[in-house]
Order: sequence, then structure tokens, then C-alpha cells
Amino acid sequence: MTNTFAKDILKGLTAKHKYISSKYFYDDNGSRIFQEIMNMPDYYPTNAEFEILSMQSKQIVEALKFSGPFNIIELGAGDGFKTFKLLEYLVNNNVDFYYVPIDISQEAIDILTQQLKVKLPSLKIKPKVGDYFEILKGNRESDRQSLLLFLGGNIGNYQENEAKELLELFHKNMKVGDKLLTGFDLKKNPIIIQNAYFDKHGITKRFNLNLLIRINRELDADFKIDDFDFYSHYNPITGDVKSYIVSLRKQVVQLKAINETISFDYDELIWTELSKKYALEEIRDLAHNANFNENGNFLDCKHYFTDSLWEKR
Ligand code: AVI
Repeated sequence: MTNTFAKDILKGLTAKHKYISSKYFYDDNGSRIFQEIMNMPDYYPTNAEFEILSMQSKQIVEALKFSGPFNIIELGAGDGFKTFKLLEYLVNNNVDFYYVPIDISQEAIDILTQQLKVKLPSLKIKPKVGDYFEILKGNRESDRQSLLLFLGGNIGNYQENEAKELLELFHKNMKVGDKLLTGFDLKKNPIIIQNAYFDKHGITKRFNLNLLIRINRELDADFKIDDFDFYSHYNPITGDVKSYIVSLRKQVVQLKAINETISFDYDELIWTELSKKYALEEIRDLAHNANFNENGNFLDCKHYFTDSLWEKR
């Protein structure tokens, strides 16, 4: 079996505790449902980070302490909605920089580039499509200092060891003095978190069940979507939001494209996502353990979210 998607799905669905990686949420339909999630009032992270970058761009730019022209490299730029306020501040203040948005989706990069050309015509932009680590390799040779952006709270979707590995990779591709601005969703009243992930409109449920629709399409499977439900739970001690698909019946599903059969027990779970919430002390420890100095945290007014600025040492 050469196809990574097929291999990963088979591995996850034949494990003792079934799982599917959350990276598979984002096919075209899943990306559209994620936009709907970001527009829900209960899903606070998007608005919180937008507020931070709207109100505190000046403070963030001052904290960079870059002496000459620099690059802003955005990892997983998507629609660039959040970053716009930071870019606008820099352009309006005649700061000399290049914006290098990186995304695996050509379509996302094309839309972003077109919109920025209209809204910020004097912005110097070098968009890149592909895997961020391949593209980041060039950063070490650049004679400009760089600010890497890893926004949106995406770090929360990595398990502890994966988050460490990711930060090591960022570190390896940065020059001493380069900065990294990462969005972290913070621990807070558990009810607020629970409502953001187990939403009453069922949008996050659709986001999760879309995984089964994707498997039906790509692996010629016969998941009956109505025979599955969704459950999400926040543990305020660990900070983990864990999301699951629940089998409502004892049932058998065929994955015809790979000639495999998967059995589900009544109430059996498929774990689909971790969305970790952090305390400020945990962020500080993560920075130090990955050989970064913490230069400051920029929080929204409700203290729901932080953009944490680190420097490679
Ligand atoms: C992309 N990521 C930061 C989102 C999150 O909050 O973990 C994905 C998401 N899952 C459910 N709602 C949003």
C-alpha cells in the first residue's frame, strides 16, 4: 500500500484504541467546515487572537528589536485573516520587511496573495507553496533576521512529544536572534472551553464526521454516517480537549479500496483530536526546553489566548 492516507487510516482503525489523525480533517469540505467553526461565537480562539494582533501589533513589533530589514515567515498561512492587522501596522509605519506566507494549499496562497495585493498594494510578498520544513531550510542562509509565525493555536493539536519535535525543527531552521511568535490557547473556565468544542449547533460534530465521509470517498468505504455520533471532553487538570467519534451500533465497515474490514463495538470510540490548553508556566517551560528565550506574552483582554514571542538562543 503506497498511499499514506490509506496506511494511516488502517493503522488507526486497527489499533486497540481506534484513532484518526486530526491532520486529515482538512480536505476541501473539512476546511470549509473549519471556517464555519471559526465564525461561531462560542469558538473564541479566532476572535481572541485577532484582538491581540489588532490591538498589540505595535508592542509586538517593538519587542522584536530587529535592527534592519527582516522577513516574516508564516507557517500555515491559510487565509491570512489574523495576520492582516500585523502586516497593515508594519506597512503603515513604512517598516522594511518581506512577508513570506507558506501553505500546502496552492488555492489558499493564491487567494491570500490576490487579497493582499488589493488591500496592501505596497506589501512586499514572497508566497511559497509546500512543506514548511523544506521551505524553511533556506532561512538559515538568509542574511536577514526572521520572525516565524505559527498562529491559530495549532500547536495545541500536537501531542507533547510531537510539539517538542516540531519546536526542535523550527529551532534548527532559525538563526540565533530570530524570533518565533506562537499562538497558544490558555487554560480557563472549563465551561467556556467545553462550549467551544462540543458546540450546540453540531458544527464540530459535522467537522468530525466528515472524516468518515472522506474515508468513504478516498478508500471506497461504506461508513453509514448516521450510525456514528460525536463526543468531546475537556480535562481542566491536564488542559486536554479530546474529541471522539462514537459508534452507535455494533457494526462492520468495508474499506473496499484496500480490501479491509473494520469491526466496531457498540459505543466504541475513535479518537480524532487533541486540542491542548496551556498555562503560562507550561509555555515558559516549553520555550526553555526547546532552547528559546521567552521575550513576552501578548494576551487578549479576557486572557483566553496568548501569542508568545520567543528568541532563538
Ligand atoms: C486548528 N486547531 C487549532 C483547531 C483547535 O481549536 O484545536 C481545530 C478545531 N477543532 C475543533 N474545533 C477547532
